[in-house]
Amino acid sequence: MSRLAEKRILLGVTGGIAAYKACGLTRQLIQAGACVRVVMTRAAQSFVAPLSFQALSGNPVHLDLLDTAEESAMGHIRLARWADLILIAPATADFMAKLRAGLADELLGAVCLAAEVPILVAPSMNRAMWSNPATQDNASCLAARGIRLLGPAEGGQACGESGYGRMLEPAEICRAMEKFFVQGSLAGRTVLVSAGPTREAIDPVRYLTNRSSGKMGYAMAQAAIDAGAKVTLVSGPVALDPPMEAQVVRVESAAEMFKAVVGLATRHDIYIGTAAVADYTPATVAEEKIKKHEAALVIRLTRTRDILTAVASLPNKPFTVGFAAETGNLESYAREKLEGKGLDMIAANRVGQAQGGFDTHENALWVCWNGGVKNLPMASKQDIAIQLIELISENYRAKNST
Ligand code: CTP
Repeated sequence: MSRLAEKRILLGVTGGIAAYKACGLTRQLIQAGACVRVVMTRAAQSFVAPLSFQALSGNPVHLDLLDTAEESAMGHIRLARWADLILIAPATADFMAKLRAGLADELLGAVCLAAEVPILVAPSMNRAMWSNPATQDNASCLAARGIRLLGPAEGGQACGESGYGRMLEPAEICRAMEKFFVQGSLAGRTVLVSAGPTREAIDPVRYLTNRSSGKMGYAMAQAAIDAGAKVTLVSGPVALDPPMEAQVVRVESAAEMFKAVVGLATRHDIYIGTAAVADYTPATVAEEKIKKHEAALVIRLTRTRDILTAVASLPNKPFTVGFAAETGNLESYAREKLEGKGLDMIAANRVGQAQGGFDTHENALWVCWNGGVKNLPMASKQDIAIQLIELISENYRAKNST
């Protein structure tokens, strides 16, 4: 039986060419056993007739905010209360902007504003409209408020162009919605992830850094989101797009990362320190660019503060997970870090080899906690992250049930 069976889905259809695909989507939702009510914007009615949705959903289609008969039958508040979930598909750039602004000039906007249930949005628009900073900003803002974005996908578009902006296919939307009704292992939990390298300034143009790409940390953030957690990502400088749903705090130096993470840690249930934080930083930062001379240059470095140790010694410390990047003696060094830093769990990986570790797509981890160890064999960083999130949530639950 589908997880959508008997779920009450309010499908909002806005005015884009993909509105015709919402007919197939309605059919698939009904076939999965869902109860579907459709709300159409005025523009959507220029693409598809309401009668099509009425026939496919088996329910009257809701069109007007100020229709008195409609209001008495099922107004915007009752529609919002009726639904287990609201799905906007297709969602135009215009509707996303309205949703962000909280406009209620049409029935669908008013329903969304009154909703206390999850809202999923499947964007559909021309690729330039999607990549426009205004739309990107709207998408990030909606995601940060907990509205889930499904897609868009990449490919050929009705306008003849090609790129990101296609609405996901109805089957993909249904699959994503099914996942939504599964209680993830971290549902209701808050997770703080640090990721990427840090940059330690030498002078205005030079810095010390390391080979971390941030891929493992970003994969951990995404896996935690997929497991149902609300995620804050403190990121050093990397060339990656963060997960849409994560709240992102960008930092540069080890000192900035320390301040951000330690400041946020006690507001989270779990802290996962994947960042490759510099252990040393120049004792002074030259105000002017350092000029070259014949003699060798000596830069005096001082120690940075250890973020994990600081988090693990907070009075209301979160469940604290560290990483260990080692070129040898992996298990003994990792155990030393687990105990020395007062961690709940440590995930160790071998670095400095062709496969796995820094700046690669794959990783293998040896995970250790007080009372257990587990090997996660070489796999994509995404797969490893999913497995590690499951281990973390099992141990987090075990710790909190005792
Ligand atoms: N770490 C940290 N703060 C630092 C340095 C490291 O929180 N100033 C964290 C990293 O985020 C990682 C863990 O410590 O989770 C281990 O980092 P790693 O570089 O392997 O070890 P170090 O503790 O720096 O020790 P060493 O470099 O001697 O191996």
